[in-house]
Amino acid sequence: MNSTASTADFFASVATKSDSGALRGDYTLADQNFVVTQQWDAYTPAQHALWRRLYERQAKLIPGRACDVFIDSLAALDVSHGIPRFDQTSEALYKATGWQLVAVPGLVPDHTFFEHLANRRFPVTVWLREAHEFDYIVEPDVFHDFFGHVPLLFNSVFADHLQEYGKGGLKALKLDGLGLLARLYWYTIEFGLIESPQGLRVYGAGILSSGGEIEHCLRNSQPRRIPFNVERVMRTLYKIDSYQETYFVIRDFEQLFEDTHPDFTPLYAHLNTLEALPANSLLAGEINLPASP
Ligand SMILES: [Fe+2]
Repeated sequence: MNSTASTADFFASVATKSDSGALRGDYTLADQNFVVTQQWDAYTPAQHALWRRLYERQAKLIPGRACDVFIDSLAALDVSHGIPRFDQTSEALYKATGWQLVAVPGLVPDHTFFEHLANRRFPVTVWLREAHEFDYIVEPDVFHDFFGHVPLLFNSVFADHLQEYGKGGLKALKLDGLGLLARLYWYTIEFGLIESPQGLRVYGAGILSSGGEIEHCLRNSQPRRIPFNVERVMRTLYKIDSYQETYFVIRDFEQLFEDTHPDFTPLYAHLNTLEALPANSLLAGEINLPASP
């Protein structure tokens, strides 16, 4: 897969991963909520140097591509010099939007993930990829989780949206809606685009932490860029091992909040009767926004 497309994210359960022995983090010290201590002092100089290289590459790519909220929040975080201390960011984040960061060993079970979000806690993986994984990583690491996700948590509307998403996830577990809700997460929080007066911009963490997709999603003529619609998103399959073939574009974070916090119970029931759409679909009458110049 491409760099930090972040593959299965939280949808691969720990149980499934453990069966294959593929989980990478050390879960032995995690508490019942899969929370660990970051142990910041244990990061090596080489790991901080790798973080700086990752940061520098992405920092050059985000002007004119990432949304303003992300750029401004990232600058305020001041984490260019090395792997950040979660406790320091968490303190600032709590003051800004009432969210906190919790350190986790890696992917956590769906229920645990949703519980954290519903209580305004964002789980951030503690380990950093190896140097040879600079462009390619199978599971989300600290760079993806922190660089890609944390800046937007400083925006109150986005932060409220993510909490509602967590509450919705807990409900979806009981409603045969998890697969549908996973597509929503994928096409918004991981791979979402947003309108701006200057043209399309990126807010999805999977794109923002990727060296290649950040340009591809805006400037390449191949992928579709379709105005956001909840039902359409939930019907659409996605790619986990290549760049996305479709991106969905929100007007603003208010739209994301308003369109995704209603009770999805009837929508799940309806969509579970319909066939999923291929990732490269373009339906009759649908707008396909052009690539940015
Ligand atoms: Fe992610």
